[in-house]
Amino acid sequence: MTSDPKPADKPIVLVGLMGAGKTCVGSRLATRYGLPFTDADEEIAKAAGCSVEDIFELYGEAAFRDGERRVIERLLGEGPRVLATGGGAFMDPEIRGRIKENAISVWLRAGLEILVERTALRGGRPLLKNGNPREILAGLIDKRYPVYAEADIVVDSDDVPPEVTIAKVSQAIDRFLSAP
Ligand code: S3P
Repeated sequence: MTSDPKPADKPIVLVGLMGAGKTCVGSRLATRYGLPFTDADEEIAKAAGCSVEDIFELYGEAAFRDGERRVIERLLGEGPRVLATGGGAFMDPEIRGRIKENAISVWLRAGLEILVERTALRGGRPLLKNGNPREILAGLIDKRYPVYAEADIVVDSDDVPPEVTIAKVSQAIDRFLSAP
């Protein structure tokens, strides 16, 4: 991972379900490419002045999605960076269109078991609060994976050390950037 990668001239956007490792992989990827790292959920929370959980609770999911659309649109216009998006962002046709037009999209694909395991480690995910997380995640896999498949690059984010996934993602991006 010490080779000089070709610089990305547009944002690299990570998509995938909760627990896929977007933030962890994204921040390290940013270091490798010498780019700033931004977590869209953090920016939405900053703009709203409260946590994502509180936005859902106080204003509802539709308000969160509006904020998400605005924030991601703004970030996509702020130059090359690595951007981790919340799991629902790429499902929005408008956001997806913007990402497809203005960025390199990378889907971190993970299986149900690993998502269940990882999401159990960190709370703050309103969609998993009202029911059985395994069933909710299984439903989201069915619904979202065919859409996430529209990303430019797909990398499996398995139960391996983050370094391994990061190496796979970097190689896939380098291949994508050097494609004619
Ligand atoms: C969501 C995923 C969350 C966050 C919000 C909704 C989703 O982000 O944006 O709770 O719809 O899948 P992470 O994927 O970073 O957990």
